[in-house]
Amino acid sequence: MPTGAAPVRQLDSHAVEELTETAHKILADVGSSAAGPELLRRVATSAGRLGETIQQACRPVDTDDGLYVLRGLSVDDGGIGPTPGSWATAGDRAAAWDVTLLLLATVMGHPIAWEGQQEGRFVHNIVPAPGHEAEQTGASSAVLLSPHTEDAFHPGRAHLLLLGCMRNHDAVATTAASIRKVRLSAGDADLLARPVLPILPDDAYAEAQSFTGQEPPKVPVLWQTENGPTLRYDPAYTPLDEAPADYRAAYDRLTAELKRVSVAVALEPGDVLVVDNDLVVHGRVPFTARYDGTDRWLKRASVRVPGRRSRPLAEADEHGYGQSALVALI
Ligand SMILES: [Fe+2]
Repeated sequence: MPTGAAPVRQLDSHAVEELTETAHKILADVGSSAAGPELLRRVATSAGRLGETIQQACRPVDTDDGLYVLRGLSVDDGGIGPTPGSWATAGDRAAAWDVTLLLLATVMGHPIAWEGQQEGRFVHNIVPAPGHEAEQTGASSAVLLSPHTEDAFHPGRAHLLLLGCMRNHDAVATTAASIRKVRLSAGDADLLARPVLPILPDDAYAEAQSFTGQEPPKVPVLWQTENGPTLRYDPAYTPLDEAPADYRAAYDRLTAELKRVSVAVALEPGDVLVVDNDLVVHGRVPFTARYDGTDRWLKRASVRVPGRRSRPLAEADEHGYGQSALVALI
């Protein structure tokens, strides 16, 4: 299925020019998209001055799809250079896009980063990496990246994810399934709202995986808010065989429903997919990486939205496996 499956918010040429020029100016002034506090300060000041069209386009997700595609920005395929062989070698490639994503993220809320992931950078490069083909992380390729809540193991996880597409010659689809489209019995919803199992840190967090300080907290998978259910789901890192049979059966029915409502979005260069991480689980279909500089390349930013009440209050007591989110609070 093409991006027709996702609502599109089109940026007009004026908004595109405003964003692009602002990003280039900031980058020229600070020198690198890894410039840290100085970059974030400049982004925060500039984001507040962006025009009404951009502010409107960045309004919260407002349909049960739980996501939208911002369209209109472009990528100079020759200018951005080859797809890096791993996030670690991406450096400043397509750095103006890092700044663009940070500007959009700052209009939506507070960008976050993780000390333990991609060296604390606020924008991650998602590229296939040799040797990681079969992992359940963004560096994989040959396997289905199962639908998951981003950073589900952590109470400080993002409310919103931004996936900016730099290159996707093979139209490799991102998958997305919204809890607001799922049909579950009241009994299943009740079972899944109980804190029965933990969600363990994923393979992108080597340090958190060796955390032994305290017991992993048991967390609910579903949470009812006044606007409908929200979701915290990552089966690849949930020890399901430790749960009673009735819970496992309810979890399996949720998984089947998420599969039924899943949409596949093949992003095009310049598209920014915005996913509400409380409503939607995302994944990626398998593909064959070439490692010749032309592979799929996304950039990802994560956002916390101040004042949101979409999660159980008990999350505040979780230890987060020793990881802490770095929040760009200016
Ligand atoms: Fe993810």
